Amino acid sequence: MTFPYAVPHDPPLFLAPMAGVSEAPFRRLCRRFGADVVVSEFLSSEGLRRGNERTLEMAAFAPEERPIGIQLFGSDPAAMAEGAAVVTEVFAPDFVDINFGCPVKKVVKRNGGSGCLKDLGLVAAITRAVVDATRLPVTVKIRSGWDETLRDPVSIACTCEDAGATALTLHARTRAQLYSGRARWDEIAAVVRALRIPVVGNGDVETAEDVLRMREETGCAGVMIARGSFGNPWIFAAARALLDGFPAPAVPGAAERFAVALDHARLTLALEGDTPKTVIEFRKHLGWYMRGLPGAAALRDRLHHVNTLAEVEAIFARHLESGAALAAAS
Ligand SMILES: Cc1cc2nc3c(=O)[nH]c(=O)nc-3n(C[C@H](O)[C@H](O)[C@H](O)COP(=O)(O)O)c2cc1C
Repeated sequence: MTFPYAVPHDPPLFLAPMAGVSEAPFRRLCRRFGADVVVSEFLSSEGLRRGNERTLEMAAFAPEERPIGIQLFGSDPAAMAEGAAVVTEVFAPDFVDINFGCPVKKVVKRNGGSGCLKDLGLVAAITRAVVDATRLPVTVKIRSGWDETLRDPVSIACTCEDAGATALTLHARTRAQLYSGRARWDEIAAVVRALRIPVVGNGDVETAEDVLRMREETGCAGVMIARGSFGNPWIFAAARALLDGFPAPAVPGAAERFAVALDHARLTLALEGDTPKTVIEFRKHLGWYMRGLPGAAALRDRLHHVNTLAEVEAIFARHLESGAALAAAS
């Protein structure tokens, strides 16, 4: 049950593929904070096949992000094969991941993402086509099924394994559930028991303690964190400490949060261009970094209107100065 690529730690912690979030800057940051493996946002196989410039840009990564997987979606086995060949040739990531979980209407309408889960023949055909098109390991990310009536994660997982997948991540919700309801970790345990390849558990890992709990309850070979990493790359270091038998490090205070948020912002502006558009798109991260801080709501309000990095720096500086002034007066 070893992973088909070298992982820095056992069990490895994964930063989940997340459109609009797991872009290069956040992937690099999370690797620095102890994520062992990262995965790109999902990329359209049709876009790759056509040489779409934006899709190719989204596939780029830096050597320090390795081990990294590039994730593809699509419903046409031939397009998925061509997309995998392009990714292998041009980017040579550590693995190619197939998205069988995306619930977005635009994607499932054409049977991509979780749309494939209604047709196990299609799941097998896509997996086989991708395996045949690349020399790299091919992994898959699935949901538990399309809806409650078609909920059968073990059959879906076995289909992927039989078709040549070398590792599998289960997000233990159906497509119909989107992101609500609880992920069924018992299903992760059942898939772990059924497969020979490593299984990565995913769904509702919100804290470092959840990482340990998921490992214990499911026996999964790796744990994937998605929303729990929002504004919280520290979750990876805290989880590793607990896995190694150490106490979790102290929760970062305002100064550390601001410093990391600014690092993240600077990296994003350097890669995406220092424009108001980039800053506006980055506002969501700024909001997430404020979670749990005293005065978070007021800070978030102010950050929600920024158009430049200088404005962000000024808001953070003012907040720290007012905190210092309060501490000095008390
Ligand atoms: C904003 C956002 C974007 C996502 N994009 C992708 C994606 O591109 N590919 C994918 O396989 N899953 C995607 N997901 C699903 C996550 O990878 C993960 O399976 C899901 O959020 C459950 O994990 P969690 O409960 O830890 O958040 C996305 C989730 C979110 C919240």
